[in-house]
Amino acid sequence: MKIVGIAGSMNTNSTTKQAVQIVLDAAREAGATVEMIHLADWKIPIYDDREDTSTYPEVVHSFIKAVSEADGLIIGSPEYHGTITGSLKNALDFLEGRHLRDKHVALIGTAGGSMGATNTVNTLQLIMRNLHAWPLPSSPSIPSAYNAFTPEGKLKDERLQARLELLGKQLVQYVQMMNPIREKQPN
Ligand SMILES: Cc1cc2nc3c(=O)[nH]c(=O)nc-3n(C[C@H](O)[C@H](O)[C@H](O)COP(=O)(O)O)c2cc1C
Repeated sequence: MKIVGIAGSMNTNSTTKQAVQIVLDAAREAGATVEMIHLADWKIPIYDDREDTSTYPEVVHSFIKAVSEADGLIIGSPEYHGTITGSLKNALDFLEGRHLRDKHVALIGTAGGSMGATNTVNTLQLIMRNLHAWPLPSSPSIPSAYNAFTPEGKLKDERLQARLELLGKQLVQYVQMMNPIREKQPN
């Protein structure tokens, strides 16, 4: 089973990447093969709805392939002005329902404020449902993310750390449950 994590921040020193990594690590411990896509490393161009999609640079095709081949995903975004980042929305615009149909997706958000990133994870839920994916019901967010992690990359709040680890385990369980159904679907 392959789980792909997408960290939707262009900051090379990203708290969102740290949060996605916690969930990915838990998924790996539960038996999955994992891959991290940190958008800061991917330099995906702006989507322009061109007719001949083969003319997009290789990075776009690699991104679509990684998502298509994933059995399940973890998508994290910082909250920017009350919603997801432009860079993440842009990357998601390259995807179609056929790339995500019936895949389970764990969603997480990070925020600078103390209220967390509720609007961000809610927005991601809407986008995932539009793409025919199954967002997991629990979508934790990390408030005051700039001060939330230990130097080792764990969350200082042990209960939140446990919630993210549980999310990774649950994602693997949901994917296992769903796989026989997905295999019966036509492409
Ligand atoms: C352009 C911009 C807009 C932001 N808007 C919000 C916001 O609306 N609410 C909030 O709580 N934090 C906001 N923040 C803070 C980020 O959500 C926070 O720093 C987050 O941890 C950044 O994630 P990263 O480290 O993965 O880049 C904003 C930050 C930036 C740069």
